[in-house]
Amino acid sequence: MPTWELHQRDALAHLASMDTGSVDAVITDPPYSSGGMMRGDRTGNTRVKYTGSKTELPSALDFAGDNRDGHGWAYWMTLWLSEALRVTTVGGALVMFTDWRQLPTATDSIQAGGWVWRGVVPWIKPDARPQRGRFTQSAEFVVWGTAGPRGLVGDTLPGYYHARVPRNNDPGGRHHITEKPLDVMRSLVRICPDGGTVLDPFAGAGTTGRAALLEGRRFIGCEITEHYAEVSRQRIAEAAEPLDHMST
Ligand SMILES: C[S@@+](CC[C@H](N)C(=O)[O-])C[C@H]1O[C@@H](n2cnc3c(N)ncnc32)[C@H](O)[C@@H]1O
Repeated sequence: MPTWELHQRDALAHLASMDTGSVDAVITDPPYSSGGMMRGDRTGNTRVKYTGSKTELPSALDFAGDNRDGHGWAYWMTLWLSEALRVTTVGGALVMFTDWRQLPTATDSIQAGGWVWRGVVPWIKPDARPQRGRFTQSAEFVVWGTAGPRGLVGDTLPGYYHARVPRNNDPGGRHHITEKPLDVMRSLVRICPDGGTVLDPFAGAGTTGRAALLEGRRFIGCEITEHYAEVSRQRIAEAAEPLDHMST
């Protein structure tokens, strides 16, 4: 198997084509479809929804799949989570980002998909914007579970993360509207055994893949949006060189 693969493809179609028990961990950040109760949330573009502006920055280009209402999102999550369980080895881990609105549905969906739900790890964002008369929305959540029983083996991992959202003027720049911090991802991928394979069906700008290779894990990624599939390939290749890869 090559050290990394990135497929520009629908996640569900790609998962269905993968061998049973072929990965050690699924570490991912699916479209949240958060706030999709309102028609405007489902039909608007992600750039305006997440940045509140019409910026033309490449790091803010639209991405796919953020248009489902609550029922649609739960149904779709269960479909791909069931396939993700099939391709994960027994005892392997699922690690998945969500926000406060989707947290109840996210934990229901992983259990509906057959995973053993193990917990919720908060990611605290110190730069969240405060609003008068409101509690500040400073946290997103990492929901995790396992494919059946898991022994007490591997690294000891934190119970929460504290990290800024990547910004355009950071030294490494920002590549996706909902990009996750590389340091957080480098810690999360350590749930996968050293040398094992991490799968991210919703790769975005490839942060999980970059983290996996930097931590000595293999990586399989899937991203449906052409622009982000290309950004993913470039960012993972930088972390991987001169290792082998495959791209379709
Ligand atoms: C929340 S973003 C992931 C961002 C990523 N964690 C990062 O740090 O760059 C989710 C990604 O999933 C992609 N996506 C949406 N629906 C998809 C599908 N059905 N199959 C594969 N990718 C999909 C979107 O285009 C988007 O880039």
